[in-house]
Amino acid sequence: MPKVVHAPCRVLILAAVKLAVPTETIPGERRVALVPEVVARLAPTGVEVAVQSGAGTAAGFPDAAYRDKGATVASLADALQGADLVAKVQPPTPEEVASWPEGVSMVGFLQPGTHSATVEALAARRATVYSLDLLPRISRAQSMDALSSQATVSGYRAVLDAAELLPKFFPLLMTAAGTVPPAKVLVIGAGVAGLQAIATARRLGAQVRAYDVRAAAKEEVESLGATFVELPLETQEGSGGYAREQSEDFLARQRELLGREVAASDVLITTAAIPGRKAPVIVTRAMIEQMEPGAAVVDMAADGGGNCEPTEAGRDVVVGEGVVVRGMSNPPSSMPAHASFLYARNIANFLGLIVSDGNLSPDFDDEVVAGTCVVRAGEVVNAAAREALGLPPLPAATPAPTAPAAPAGNDQEKPQ
Ligand SMILES: NC(=O)c1ccc[n+]([C@@H]2O[C@H](COP(=O)([O-])OP(=O)(O)OC[C@H]3O[C@@H](n4cnc5c(N)ncnc54)[C@H](O)[C@@H]3O)[C@@H](O)[C@H]2O)c1
Repeated sequence: MPKVVHAPCRVLILAAVKLAVPTETIPGERRVALVPEVVARLAPTGVEVAVQSGAGTAAGFPDAAYRDKGATVASLADALQGADLVAKVQPPTPEEVASWPEGVSMVGFLQPGTHSATVEALAARRATVYSLDLLPRISRAQSMDALSSQATVSGYRAVLDAAELLPKFFPLLMTAAGTVPPAKVLVIGAGVAGLQAIATARRLGAQVRAYDVRAAAKEEVESLGATFVELPLETQEGSGGYAREQSEDFLARQRELLGREVAASDVLITTAAIPGRKAPVIVTRAMIEQMEPGAAVVDMAADGGGNCEPTEAGRDVVVGEGVVVRGMSNPPSSMPAHASFLYARNIANFLGLIVSDGNLSPDFDDEVVAGTCVVRAGEVVNAAAREALGLPPLPAATPAPTAPAAPAGNDQEKPQ
């Protein structure tokens, strides 16, 4: 039975969609899927939000802030009671899913290829699941692109970590006592996170160089005022604007050519990832040993195995004569307020596609909805998830989305 609610903007609406926001349970995860500001934005669209008490605390959003914006704050069981939708950041565990309502929908990062038990549990609940890490990276979907929004946070944070580790200034300083040269920063991997790292290091006044295996990255790097490192290697472009997986021969030649660039840097930031695969090892221990004592390395690919040989996720490792290698683990969680703010906006924009007049009404002919859907009313429809579960491929006529489609730009800021 639809409930009559008063939205903060005092519009009388029939709210038919109940959205539950549980507390994230993965250790160290401080983000929350929805922030109070977005609760208020959703109310006029007929989405009534129930937040688990304490869900936003670690991100800086107390229960009272949600209540002020019109959300219900309740125990987990009460928040989930009668929920039509659940919003999450991290993939839920199968145990969490077991207490969700039958037939519920979910929006969040599911990483279905590596979370088969959760996919199975969601299918058993006859759920419909949208995984934002599968969102087609087309222009129309940019406002929902949670991978990009979170990568932006990571790139910014990586530079702050490097600046904290480095026993030197980033900017050129001309003082009465003498002139301090700017720090030399090398960024390997110039996707969304790498470009944000470049922009942030430039703002701090460092001299920045960057390298990527995709030819298109050169123009983007230069537009941010950094120098693109050209190596005599073939480009490694795969489908959808991503890098393809590189051969060991290519990586060996790349390491040899990058050695001098790494040795000449005060700071090395690595961001190179291949979607769905282990991160390529681009920088060896021997290369890092050639850096000056006190140099700082921040590896943003640590959770995917790391781009640097000595990297350990979530730890600082000292290499050679005092070079610190930081393996960033879950970097967006270290800036949970703005990471959650951007993520919540991505969720709200996605809900614009599947909620209409207070009803859940997804259009599975829409490539963004279909491309993101992993489980539909209990049927696993994502090809990679089916393969991981040992299920046969669906007939061609049924949408069976795989990788994100071709990108059409990105949401990086450009220099003024
Ligand atoms: N909505 C959109 O249109 C949209 C949104 C986001 C990103 N994009 C584009 O998608 C592409 C991938 O971006 P991403 O941030 O998701 O990338 P990513 O996180 O998959 O990888 C980070 C970067 O590492 C690079 N890389 C991989 N192996 C490397 C190696 N051995 N050496 C050096 N660099 C290596 C990749 O080329 C990429 O630029 C980019 O072209 C980006 O501009 C488009």
